[in-house]
Amino acid sequence: MSAVTALPRCAHPDGSIREGKSTVGDAAKSAPRRDGGPSEAPPPTGPADEVLQERLQHIDHRLLVLSGKGGVGKSTLAVNLAVSLSLNGRRVGLLDVDIHGPSIPKLLHLEGRTLSGRAEAIEPLTFGEGLKVVSIGFLLENDQQAVIWRGPLKMKLIAQFLRDVEWGDLEYLVVDSPPGTGDEPLSLAQLIGRLDGAVIVTTPQELALTDVRKCITFCRQLDVPVLGVVENMSGLVCPHCGKTIDVFGAGGGGEGMATQMGVPTLGRIPLDPQVVQASDAGQPFVYFYGKTETASAFRRLSEAVIDSVEGPSATTTEADDVASS
Ligand SMILES: Nc1ncnc2c1ncn2[C@@H]1O[C@H](COP(=O)(O)OP(=O)(O)O)[C@@H](O)[C@H]1O
Ligand SMILES: [Mg+2]
Repeated sequence: MSAVTALPRCAHPDGSIREGKSTVGDAAKSAPRRDGGPSEAPPPTGPADEVLQERLQHIDHRLLVLSGKGGVGKSTLAVNLAVSLSLNGRRVGLLDVDIHGPSIPKLLHLEGRTLSGRAEAIEPLTFGEGLKVVSIGFLLENDQQAVIWRGPLKMKLIAQFLRDVEWGDLEYLVVDSPPGTGDEPLSLAQLIGRLDGAVIVTTPQELALTDVRKCITFCRQLDVPVLGVVENMSGLVCPHCGKTIDVFGAGGGGEGMATQMGVPTLGRIPLDPQVVQASDAGQPFVYFYGKTETASAFRRLSEAVIDSVEGPSATTTEADDVASS
């Protein structure tokens, strides 16, 4: 199968179409053109688009992973949630809409891979037993390449990722977004029609919590249900004795804030040095370190998500560990 050449039509601000992996031009060049450049491409796809609607009909539940700040563990959580749902027997897709800083390829050790297929039938990459994965990272020449785009182009790419990718029948689509409440989560929320909910990631510090309040407000303004808040890096797993130290005090600021804002707490994940090592090695924690306490915390989170989306009787016992540390 050939590398996708259709995405660059949307992906190149200079309107060029190139074979193989895309390269990205300067946003300044994306001014209106008469030669079929991207600004003359069809307008951003709306919910009325039939192909998009048809595609979305095959995706039962759609989750958006959001945070007010970068570096709180959103991508780590999105990956472990998706893998965990998949280990729990669900058919899952993972879409990375962090256009300026995609980290899903690295987290799943899929760097350097490209998407293949035809223009309107792009094959997602797969991880493990069939987790389907799509990221702009699969279209870039290398991970040092900068994407310099304005909102409308990002929206076109996100529309294409939803509409033209062969997602097939999915029970869950987990979407990882960049930090904040900018173009990407906004476009996603507008294009995807119905989101089952946002999973908001925070760390216990007060500064991060302030940003979470903005995420909750964002969701409320867009009528996106908030599934709940996840407090990540909540307590430190001591690399020597394995016990958890409550660095920011017991109870967790995220939990208090969630109660204050009237949203559920979905889970707490400890700060675990092994998570950093596993992530850097492209090993999803729940898959490769399934027997650890931290993996259990990720699994409990995915079960809380399933309970919230499908109803409390839907979870089975903890997914079987596929591999252990
Ligand atoms: N629970 C955790 N314990 C230890 N390190 C973590 C944890 N969650 C995330 N990290 C690390 O924090 C860094 C940022 O995580 P990332 O998922 O890229 O954040 P974001 O997507 O919010 O920017 C990464 O180095 C990651 O390995
Ligand atoms: Mg990220």
